[in-house]
Amino acid sequence: MNDLAGRAAFVTGAGQGIGLGIARALAKADVNVALADIDEGALTRAVAEIEALGVRALAVPLDVSDGEAVARAAGTVEAAFGKLHILVNNAGVTAPPKPITQLTPQDWDWLIGVNVYGVVHGIRSFLPLIRRHGEGGHVVNTSSIGGLQVRPGRGTGGYAATKFAVVAISESLQQELEGSGIGVSLLCPAAVDTAIYESTTRRPARFGGPFVPPGGVPSRAELLPGALPPDTVGERVLHAIRTNEFFIFTHEGPRAWLEERHRRLMDGFDRAAAYNRQNGIKT
Ligand SMILES: NC(=O)c1ccc[n+]([C@@H]2O[C@H](COP(=O)([O-])OP(=O)(O)OC[C@H]3O[C@@H](n4cnc5c(N)ncnc54)[C@H](O)[C@@H]3O)[C@@H](O)[C@H]2O)c1
Repeated sequence: MNDLAGRAAFVTGAGQGIGLGIARALAKADVNVALADIDEGALTRAVAEIEALGVRALAVPLDVSDGEAVARAAGTVEAAFGKLHILVNNAGVTAPPKPITQLTPQDWDWLIGVNVYGVVHGIRSFLPLIRRHGEGGHVVNTSSIGGLQVRPGRGTGGYAATKFAVVAISESLQQELEGSGIGVSLLCPAAVDTAIYESTTRRPARFGGPFVPPGGVPSRAELLPGALPPDTVGERVLHAIRTNEFFIFTHEGPRAWLEERHRRLMDGFDRAAAYNRQNGIKT
């Protein structure tokens, strides 16, 4: 999608961090932006900032894990903006850092509710708005580099599980939208300088309430070495919308991790081939 000026976008998790970085990049490209976030204070500040860039901005207070609320939000955005061309399902949270065996059902409900259902609800309620006008558009789903491999020793297995799901959802969506004029991008960032690791401190009561690790949340420098500014990622996403790129990577370092993971996958196929040969199994 190259012709962006005057179009409208809906961005979740836009109160701060990567979502706000994407909203800024879109606004600078003359796109009107509906910003959704569960944090109403952050949302108010973000909307004022986006409006100051000279486009229309709409505040949509929203918990993306609530499907009915997302459906209502689609009505609000359509009433305010008319045609929608760009959907960015970006809101996401990390669980308390724990081994996967110690995550509670409530931890899972929150992770899956926001990171997976948030994307599913966004697609179900907002994609029809893009389809309706027939002018084409673009969907961006935020996964993570953790959606393609699990880094050891970080206690982020549950988070990675939800981000793997976002990869599968996005690959399916791209296949299903082939030829429709609606592109799909999958954002897989490595470290970005945001409050993502503070998300447990703001966990809603229905998912177990706030969790502050003993000793507090470690510093961003410790948790996110080599972090990029959110605005750099926002500009990168804008470029991918324009050039219709599927995989959006932000850092080059993870290439080596993924090559190592793929080597292990290929080793598995080699073992399957040897086993099948030895046992006369034809596939
Ligand atoms: N920061 C990183 O290093 C990094 C790396 C890979 C992927 N990501 C992903 O990027 C996305 C954005 O995260 P970020 O790093 O900007 O973090 P962030 O915490 O700075 O921003 C996330 C925003 O989402 C909002 N949010 C949380 N739960 C919500 C809900 N239920 N409904 C609506 N809004 C909700 C928060 O209020 C916040 O404003 C997430 O999906 C995250 O998993 C981040």
